[in-house]
Amino acid sequence: MLIGGKVGLRARHEEDAPILRAELYNDVVNGSRADGRPWRPIAPGSKDPRLVVDETEHGNVPFSVVELEGGTLVGVANLWGIDTHNRSAHVGLGLLPSWRGKGYGTDVVATLCHYGFVVRGLHRLQIETLSDNTAMLRSAERNGFVREGVLRSSAWVLGGFLDEVLLGLLAEEWEPDAKG
Ligand SMILES: CC(C)(COP(=O)(O)OP(=O)(O)OC[C@H]1O[C@@H](n2cnc3c(N)ncnc32)[C@H](O)[C@@H]1OP(=O)(O)O)[C@@H](O)C(=O)NCCC(=O)NCCS
Repeated sequence: MLIGGKVGLRARHEEDAPILRAELYNDVVNGSRADGRPWRPIAPGSKDPRLVVDETEHGNVPFSVVELEGGTLVGVANLWGIDTHNRSAHVGLGLLPSWRGKGYGTDVVATLCHYGFVVRGLHRLQIETLSDNTAMLRSAERNGFVREGVLRSSAWVLGGFLDEVLLGLLAEEWEPDAKG
């Protein structure tokens, strides 16, 4: 398990699936905002890739996020689109609603940076998020990510196009204890 300040990033357990399905993925509004794919429900026992880990997919490393004090499941995180030639990857995360706004997201980003830069030897990490997702933007910027551009009207979200912000962080810029 990867240990951060407040969170641990561990493998996906079978018993995580019903909690993630009910509290994270079956929420149409947040699901539509957090995922570039169209929302669709996940049935119990489904092999939906958002829940079930495909060990043969080396470009995506999914984690379940737990809080360190009690070991409670608080969300998901992943490094996806891992490109071993250009040594880059994308960062993704989502917390269960009752665990948001308490500093966990910032710590998840920090722990994924450690995984990307130290464990995997990557050179560049990237985040794309909706331009009104202040919590995600701040979680990234707190860890040293810089805004590199705006992808205008790039996301179709519940009846309209929204802008996304592209943020990047290079290995040499990363400060493990950054507090931006
Ligand atoms: C985005 C997300 C991961 C951020 O994690 P979090 O634990 O809620 O964020 P934190 O508590 O670490 O807060 C980070 C910063 O955002 C601010 N913030 C948190 N929630 C906020 C909100 N609802 N509105 C405005 N600012 C907010 C905090 O004050 C903090 O700012 P600071 O560093 O300047 O003090 C989490 O809110 C989430 O899972 N949201 C739904 C899914 C999602 O949007 N995923 C990202 C898709 S790209």
